[in-house]
Amino acid sequence: MNLINKTAVVTGAGQGIGAAIVKKLSENGIRVAAIDLNVDNVKSVIQSLEGNHLALECNVGQSKDVIKTVRKARKIFGRLDYLVNCAGIGQAKGDGSEKFYASMNKRNDEIAKNGKSETFIDHLIHMEDEGWESVLAVNLNGAFYACREAVRIMAEDNIQGSIVNISSTSAQSGEGSPHYVTSKSALIGLTRQLARELAPRGIRVNAVAPGPTNTPIMNGLPKEWITSMEQSVPLGRMANPSEVAGAVYYLLSDDASFVTGSVLVANGGSYYF
Ligand SMILES: NC(=O)c1ccc[n+]([C@@H]2O[C@H](COP(=O)([O-])OP(=O)(O)OC[C@H]3O[C@@H](n4cnc5c(N)ncnc54)[C@H](O)[C@@H]3O)[C@@H](O)[C@H]2O)c1
Repeated sequence: MNLINKTAVVTGAGQGIGAAIVKKLSENGIRVAAIDLNVDNVKSVIQSLEGNHLALECNVGQSKDVIKTVRKARKIFGRLDYLVNCAGIGQAKGDGSEKFYASMNKRNDEIAKNGKSETFIDHLIHMEDEGWESVLAVNLNGAFYACREAVRIMAEDNIQGSIVNISSTSAQSGEGSPHYVTSKSALIGLTRQLARELAPRGIRVNAVAPGPTNTPIMNGLPKEWITSMEQSVPLGRMANPSEVAGAVYYLLSDDASFVTGSVLVANGGSYYF
């Protein structure tokens, strides 16, 4: 594969899967603009790598911020070949998570004790507009803003680029919170629409749908959820971030030159798209 001198923008690059993607691309000779809300984290990610990378602070939920940051990466690198939309959140203020987790724990305790429960988990009932909008703003709008700016640049520069959106197995299973599952499902719709629209330009757009992956996002989830997630995975464990990064790299690379509009599952066999 000849990926030397190609460049990428990776959002949510400060830790977890995003940081593993930056590492994988760097190891394959790609210069990366690593973007995150937490600029200190992206600085330390790229400091540990060889090569001429960039660490940029950006809130992907803010359209103007995304336009400015993606343009800056293009200006400094001189070209933009790849985009990976990895920034994502699972919870936000006002999304009813505390009540949801409390009722879920109560329900699990009652089932363990009595074999049944009349406690409902009621995430939807406790979801306020603010919580819903905050998660959609990052997970869906952020990817849209970044795709739009990257494609504007690729079109201006006549680059036949490649884009990967990080969805989730929850888009297939429906497991998880209403705002999160909706955002990750919508990303697949965006991926498929863009794949068709951009194919004549030679720009490929795919998604990776990870299953449970061992990253800091997991720290916010109750232990029971983690255990039950691991038990539900045929391979019997969470993924390492590098295993998801490998799937992303394949889709970006020329090895996937005839692949567009696809959802590559990296979930240990839990669900199949
Ligand atoms: N970990 C999993 O089990 C899993 C499974 C399926 C899908 N995913 C998806 O993979 C992606 C990465 O997950 P992770 O586990 O590495 O998460 P993580 O929480 O460890 O890292 C997410 C990164 O995104 C950044 N970020 C959050 N909001 C941002 C914003 N508004 N602008 C810019 N950056 C922002 C954070 O600062 C953080 O560095 C997410 O989209 C997540 O939904 C994760």
